[in-house]
Amino acid sequence: MVATVMSGKLLSDELNEEMKVEIIKLKEKGLVPGLVVVLVGEDPASQTYVKNKEKRAKKLGIHSVIERYPETISELELLRVIDRLNKDEHFHGILVQLPLPKHIDSTKVLDAINPAKDVDGFHPINMGKLFIGQPDRIPCTPYGIMKLLQRYDIEVTGKNAVIIGRSNIVGKPMAQLLLMKNATVTIAHSKTKDLAELASKADILVVAVGRGHMVTKEFIKPGAVVIDVGMNRDENGKLIGDVKSDEVQEVAGYLTPVPKGVGPMTITMLMYQTIESAKATLTSQSKL
Ligand code: GUN
Repeated sequence: MVATVMSGKLLSDELNEEMKVEIIKLKEKGLVPGLVVVLVGEDPASQTYVKNKEKRAKKLGIHSVIERYPETISELELLRVIDRLNKDEHFHGILVQLPLPKHIDSTKVLDAINPAKDVDGFHPINMGKLFIGQPDRIPCTPYGIMKLLQRYDIEVTGKNAVIIGRSNIVGKPMAQLLLMKNATVTIAHSKTKDLAELASKADILVVAVGRGHMVTKEFIKPGAVVIDVGMNRDENGKLIGDVKSDEVQEVAGYLTPVPKGVGPMTITMLMYQTIESAKATLTSQSKL
């Protein structure tokens, strides 16, 4: 058996077409969804991510701006930037690209973003809402994964889901989203014992560890749905996932590729939530 490829690229293309139409309608009402990305420093990976976000936003007709600041910006200066952007009505979404330089407390910066503009879903209010089952803005990578599962008609209720990785950005919100769809969820991490044995009980396995080709076929239950969140470079600079796809695809039922799997969906959900935030300003105005 060879696993069905779950193409984030194809689903993104479909959702992009829908979003383009939605944006045209909003523009007819005089509303142009706006996204500002704040980039601090020169990290090459962050530069690439930010450029990709801008490219996608422009393609859809979203007003998109990148504000770049030097590595040396102080925490206070950055908090002032956030304050200004919170008040700027042209921007419905604010994204601060992570990681930030070590002298800046990322938590403080993320907390300063107006939760209504927090299109990354990282603000504690949005995280809290998600964890009480009342989601508003949702972290984009796990949100995109849920859309992929839905698109490929994968039943989640009653399934054993194992997530490898416990980050605030992927692992924890992923667990909550799967729980909300009635999966039985386990979060595994670097201290988990017998990881391969645990993973091999999973009907749905989400891997977000950031170590190239760590998950081999021994981790996979035959027919399982395997979601690879990894984006690593091998010794030749080639982009590879956390999953050793050539052997895992022989065992799994479904597998997301790297690239063109989860990656495009993360950007898609960012655009989606920017539009949602823009639309929310319309309803809040009409309620006045
Ligand atoms: N750095 C790596 N992934 C992300 C993300 O999803 N959002 C932000 N803001 N920074 C990131």
